[in-house]
Parts: sequence; C-alpha cells; structure tokens
Amino acid sequence: MAQRARGVMIVTLAGLLLSCQPAGRTATTKPAPATLPNTPMTMESAKAASERAERERVPLPAAWKLSSEGSTVVAPDAMVASNSALASQAGVEVLRAGGNAVDAAVAVGFALAVTLPEAGNLGGGGYMIIRLSDGRSFALDYREVAPLAASRDMFLDSQGNVTDKSQVGHLASGVPGSVAGLTAALARYGTMPLAKVMAPAIRLADSGFTVDSALARSIAGNASRISPFAGAALFLPGGHPLTVGAMFRQPALATTLRSIAATGATAFYSGAIADAIAAEMERGGGIITKTDLARYAPAWHAPLAGTFRGYTLLAMPPSSSGGISVLETLNILEHFPASPAGSAMSYHLLAEAFRRAFVDRNTKLGDPAFVQVPVSQLTSKEYARQQASSIDVNRASSTGAFRQATGEGVNTTHYSVVDDHGNAVATTTTLNDLYGSGVYVADAGIFLNDEMDDFAARPGQPNMYGLVQGEQNAIAPGKRMLSAMSPTIVLDPKGDLLLVIGSRGGPRIITSVAQVILNVIDHHMSYGQAMSEPRIHHQAWPDVLHYEPNGLSAATVDSLRAMGHRIEVAPYESGGFIGRVILVGRVADGWEGVVDPRTSGGAAGY
Ligand code: DON
Repeated sequence: MAQRARGVMIVTLAGLLLSCQPAGRTATTKPAPATLPNTPMTMESAKAASERAERERVPLPAAWKLSSEGSTVVAPDAMVASNSALASQAGVEVLRAGGNAVDAAVAVGFALAVTLPEAGNLGGGGYMIIRLSDGRSFALDYREVAPLAASRDMFLDSQGNVTDKSQVGHLASGVPGSVAGLTAALARYGTMPLAKVMAPAIRLADSGFTVDSALARSIAGNASRISPFAGAALFLPGGHPLTVGAMFRQPALATTLRSIAATGATAFYSGAIADAIAAEMERGGGIITKTDLARYAPAWHAPLAGTFRGYTLLAMPPSSSGGISVLETLNILEHFPASPAGSAMSYHLLAEAFRRAFVDRNTKLGDPAFVQVPVSQLTSKEYARQQASSIDVNRASSTGAFRQATGEGVNTTHYSVVDDHGNAVATTTTLNDLYGSGVYVADAGIFLNDEMDDFAARPGQPNMYGLVQGEQNAIAPGKRMLSAMSPTIVLDPKGDLLLVIGSRGGPRIITSVAQVILNVIDHHMSYGQAMSEPRIHHQAWPDVLHYEPNGLSAATVDSLRAMGHRIEVAPYESGGFIGRVILVGRVADGWEGVVDPRTSGGAAGY
C-alpha cells in the first residue's frame, strides 16, 4: 500500500498490483498527421505537439487492468526504489546514517544479493550510472567476462547446433563482476567504509528475514532450475520450496559478506570465496578458474550523453547496448511530433524506431575491447535523421533476413537512488535467468550467472530472448557479452536531475525504458501513469510487433496490421508483460519512487 506521509515510507508489492480502470472507455484510433521527418522537433514545436497529443490521448482499452497508484512513494529529501522493500530500506538506513547515494546504492546492491536471490547477486554482474550533484557523471561496467578457456563454438554440438549449456549448469557462467563493481564504486565515490554499507546485508543474511509471497512464488516457480544443484538444500528444504512466513537465514552467504566487508573484493577474487567457486567449477565441469577470478576488473567510462527534445540522457556505453539503443530510438523519434498516447501512429513510429535500433544493436555492437563499435555514429543526430527519413508514416517496413554488418525472461533487477544532496545512482544487475545457471556455490552461499547466453553462441541463431546477433558478439576469452541493460539518468531542459530509471527484461529493457521516458516527456504523464501504460516491443528479428495482453484495443491492432505490421500478443511467460521498470523521479514535493506494477518491490524515502 502506498503512503504519502512524511517520514520513512515503504511500499511493498506482494505480487502484481491490479486495479480496475474506470469502465466504459471506448478504444478508438485517431489518425495522426503524416509529418515528414526532416528536422528534429524543436523544444517549442515539440511542446505544442505534445500538448495536442495529450488532448487527443486514445483511451486505454477497458480490459487493461494495470495501475501504478498503489506502487508510488513520495518523500521530500531522498528516495530508493528497488525490487525488494528490504533492500530499499537498507539503502535508506545508510542514507540516514549520513551516506551519499553511492554508499546507499552499494548497500542496496549487497542487500539485494540476500533478499532477492533470483536476480540480486554476488555471482553476476551489472552496470551503474552515477551523477553527482556537482554535475559530474560516471559509468561503471562490471559486466561478467567469458572465462579464459571459453571458445567461440563452446555451446555447439557436433552438428553445429546450439545446446542449452549457455543457459543451465557450470559452463553457462561468465566470471562474476558484481563484487568488484560495487566495491569500486564505493571506493571512488562513496564516503563510508565497506563494512558500514554492508552491515544491513550481513544482518539480513545472518538473522534472516521473513519469506514473503513474491519470494515464495519465485522459488516455487523456479524449483526445476534450483533443484539439480547445491542450492536445493537451502531453497527447497526436504524437496519443498520455502513458504510464506518462513524465516530465511543464509549463514554461508553471511560469512561471504563478512569476509568481503573485512578485506574487500580480494576476498571474493582471490581468497576463500574464489577457492569455493573454482572448486565448484571443477566439480561440475565448468571452466572458471582462480586465474579468471584474479584478473577480473571493472571498467570506468564516461556515460553516453544524448538529448531528446531538450532533455539530456546519461546512458550506459558498451559493453551494454542499452545506452546506444535507447538514444538511437529517441533520436529517431525526435523527428516526429508526439502522436497521441495509445494511438496506432505512436506504436507504429515506436516499432519502426526500435526496429532500426535493434538492427544496429544486433549486428554492430559488442565488447569495445574486442571489436570496433561505431558509438558516435549510432548516437549521432545526423544518423538518426537518415534513419527517420527511411520510415514511412503509413507503412511498416520489413527487417529482412538477418544480415551481418561489416564492421535478451524477467531476471534482472534495477534500482535507483537519489540522496538529499541530489546525487543519483542508476544500477541494473543480473544473473541473466532467474537464479542464473542454477549452479549454487554452497560454501559461499551464492548463485552463479548464465550470462554466457548473452553472447551469440552461433552468430545468426537466436538466444533465449530470441535475439539474433552477429559476429561482433561472438564468444572470445576475456570478452564481455553484449547486454541490453539500460540504467539511465534524465536531466530536464535546465540540466536538473529529473529521472533515475532502468528495468529488467532482456532486450525488452531497452524498449521499456524508452517508452517510460517517452510517456513522461512526450505525453506529460505522471510517473505512475507512465509506468502503468501498456507497452509494445520490437527487436527487429523476429519481425514481430509484440504488445501486452489487453494493452491495445482491437481497433489499434487492426490499424497496425493494416499498416503492414506482423502484430502479436507478447509471449505469455511472465504474464505477457513487457519489462519491469523501476524509477525515482523529481516531483514538486520531493522525489517519487515507483515500482512497475508488473512486478514486486518497494520504494522508501524520507
Ligand atoms: O544483460 C542482458 O541484457 C540480460 N542478461 C538481461 C537479462 C534480463 O533482463 C532478464 N530479466 N528480465
């Protein structure tokens, strides 16, 4: 339940919050004006267009049930939002003790490893965008890397077919980056000792916490992934998933956390924890060695900076595709006036922009330490102008067969933090699949990722997210697998902090983050509305426009089909929902934390 009173505010979503929209709304599709995409919309013309679009908003389909009303929290000074209310509280505890947003983000990251075992992690990796109140900004890449013994065709059988070994079991893991990333962020921009920011996580692992319905459902729903490996004893005691109300203690994880708190990342990368990981690998036929762990290093970059209708976006550079793809999409859409939210035209233009951004993503992007990545070209306004001019406002284009340029379930987690000085951190982290590869290092109390599946195991063949990717993202030792994670910070036209946002959802991260930002900037929606709007997804290959069940009216679907789109309800896993966004946004009376009504979690602030 949401609270808007001052003081510490927490919202817990035990599962999906559904509430009915007013009945009797009829869905109509209004024709939007066909505008030639020659020049980007200036702020003035964009403002007039978006005001018109706001007036002409197409009513939501009557059967659309999502509402964010229950999942937003407002507080005057500081805010933390994540997929775990306990982890958000850990962040607030550190903020209240005088920590800054980086201290709090690191506290949340370690707490999520305890309270959100499906995705929070020490055995995975992630990305962080930091913007300090003095205007400086930084991007931290702590993505996993392929082990040194990895090879291009390691997931192909003797016939050259892709096996499931990139998704389940010991070979599926990249060398984890999370501990190196979190400790690096703290060392550079935090203010507190590691032991202090890790204290809430250690307490949660040691003393335990009560299993809520979201955790119980998650464990039960993924029992088949957990049960073949050593995590079964803890998560499926006696063969049965933990149930709501049980006290959940993780003593091995508490020991691991304590040893990291005492000696830093070296405890994980070369001490007893490294020994435990290497031993588990050897036992299960994996290839991560102590050498792999010892040589892991996170990478600092400047964030990509782009603009959209006068707003500035600070986004993640490669090895994530997220920043380039979100910026390319928005740059293309800047050439069109905002169409009414919910209109066939708005979805058409979105789909065409996504299509173009994903063609580039899937063929041209990879780890820049290994392949040339045309970052400045793909994010340039001139390139977007060319891309926009190839869009027919009346007809869908076709992606065509996968062509190699010369030259992504629901298992990730994002969190956003803003402190009372206006420092901000956007972090997305993942094990890839829920509970990663399923492999659990019992002595260390951690799940390992199955991030190797984010490589193109066989260029041109789809991975678990149906992403068809090319040579740029082929496997090589020490290489980072391409990601779609898109932690993003948005500044308003005055340059002031507005939005700290990100999502889970594999390739749908890119399309979900872009749509929520568009809903805020182009459609003037409140953050809650922007989050609960129906979403679409297009990733070029397969050439299909997916939409959420009941999200588009029959008339809108017909219009899009008549334009030539192959349009289908999104695959039903995870309820057919597209993305799970978390955001903190500025409001008149402080900061609003919003958890996507498609998922569980909580925001807390003061
Ligand atoms: O890095 C990526 O793009 C994927 N490993 C993210 C996976 C993900 O978001 C799964 N959860 N929804």
